[in-house]
Amino acid sequence: MSETLICGIDIGSTKIATIVGLYSSETDEVRIIGFNATPSRGVKKGLIVDIDQATASVESSVEKAERMAGHQIKEAFVTVGGPHISSINSHGIVAVANPQFEVVEDDVHRVIEAARAISLSNTRQIIEVTPREYSVDGQSGINNPVGMSGVRLEVDTHIITASATNLKNIDKVLNDLGIKNTGYIFSGVASAQSVLTDTEKDLGVAVADIGGGKIDMSIFVEGALSYSSSIPIGARHISNDIAVGLRVSLESAEKVKLYLSNNARRIEEAIKKKEKNILTSEKLGILEKLPDVSPKEIIEGIVGPRIEEIYSLVAEEISKSGYEKSIPSGIVITGGGSMTVGMVEMGKRIARLPIRIGIPEKATGLVDEVMNPMYAATLGLVYYGNTQMLEDPAGFKDFNSVLKNFSMNDIMSKAKKVFKQFLP
Ligand SMILES: Nc1ncnc2c1ncn2[C@@H]1O[C@H](COP(=O)(O)OP(=O)(O)OP(=O)(O)O)[C@@H](O)[C@H]1O
Ligand SMILES: [Mg+2]
Repeated sequence: MSETLICGIDIGSTKIATIVGLYSSETDEVRIIGFNATPSRGVKKGLIVDIDQATASVESSVEKAERMAGHQIKEAFVTVGGPHISSINSHGIVAVANPQFEVVEDDVHRVIEAARAISLSNTRQIIEVTPREYSVDGQSGINNPVGMSGVRLEVDTHIITASATNLKNIDKVLNDLGIKNTGYIFSGVASAQSVLTDTEKDLGVAVADIGGGKIDMSIFVEGALSYSSSIPIGARHISNDIAVGLRVSLESAEKVKLYLSNNARRIEEAIKKKEKNILTSEKLGILEKLPDVSPKEIIEGIVGPRIEEIYSLVAEEISKSGYEKSIPSGIVITGGGSMTVGMVEMGKRIARLPIRIGIPEKATGLVDEVMNPMYAATLGLVYYGNTQMLEDPAGFKDFNSVLKNFSMNDIMSKAKKVFKQFLP
């Protein structure tokens, strides 16, 4: 029996979450053995804006997770998100090299390489290359072309790129802490790993991770990752609006928002019964005096318009992707912001699509705290890392350099791994 440590660091605008998983080959399962979430500083909308502050936050989170796990974190996968993310679907074609015209692994490597050859400014870096489907001699919809007969091999890939500067800053933070980066993973893809079902991906679905400062989105069509992007607003903007509307501090506004969200049903009943004093400073544990505003006014007058804005931006992204007719499974919302009062109900009305909250429920181990939409991307890092490692243990070790050098073998192992999860 062998056990392997898989670590992830989720650098969010609100919190830094560190996760330590232990994969056992005997049970073929990852058990969470360490976890910590620490308030984040120096990070805005997915961008590191103050390296020292961000490093201190990551250090504090990593140390606590290490203590809990009883293991030192030497390497970790790390989330990347925010509006600097963009994606493109790229096509590659090669002639099959084998004289018997049977596709071999090397042809697959070459065709992905061909698709990956997109023109990229030196301020951008590729962080993900996922094959969506292959075609052999014009026959499309192939999951794995190896062993098939043909002369022409084609691939459709999904490529995600990120700001090279921001990636360098993330690396700087990790380097300063002596942690090796085993790979950048777009938060939208990481969250999709932990909250989407295979059926949803096959039918077509969008995942929207509504964080504090941004919304990371991934769209899956016919089982394949097809679009990735990020919107520069998040749930913190709702708290900001409450602070402005009620003329209270951001801290108090956050408490009001959480109280309304966590007690939504009780508040709905109280509104119906026209109960008074539902929201009081004492109940919320805040020192400031709250103005005489009813929960209904806050929900409908302040929170509602922001949620509307969020969904109109999400709908805009879906329409920009061109897949608006291809996602019958609707939108799976996750991230802390998905729990905002009214988020599901308003979403259904505005987007006219099925909406559900994605809770990462597959985990085992120390998971009570982790099974929360806030940690969808955090847990996704461990799932991603695990499949990566199982696919190619040697490549896993060199993953960081892969992303810099784009060595084809390693890109393939990553691509195959991502692709594998799409197989039925
Ligand atoms: N129970 C809850 N109800 C409503 N909102 C919540 C709840 N818990 C957390 N939130 C909100 O979720 C947001 C934080 O979400 P999350 O932890 O996913 O963000 P993050 O990953 O740090 O940020 P980002 O991904 O944008 O960089 C905060 O605005 C917080 O107010
Ligand atoms: Mg996040």
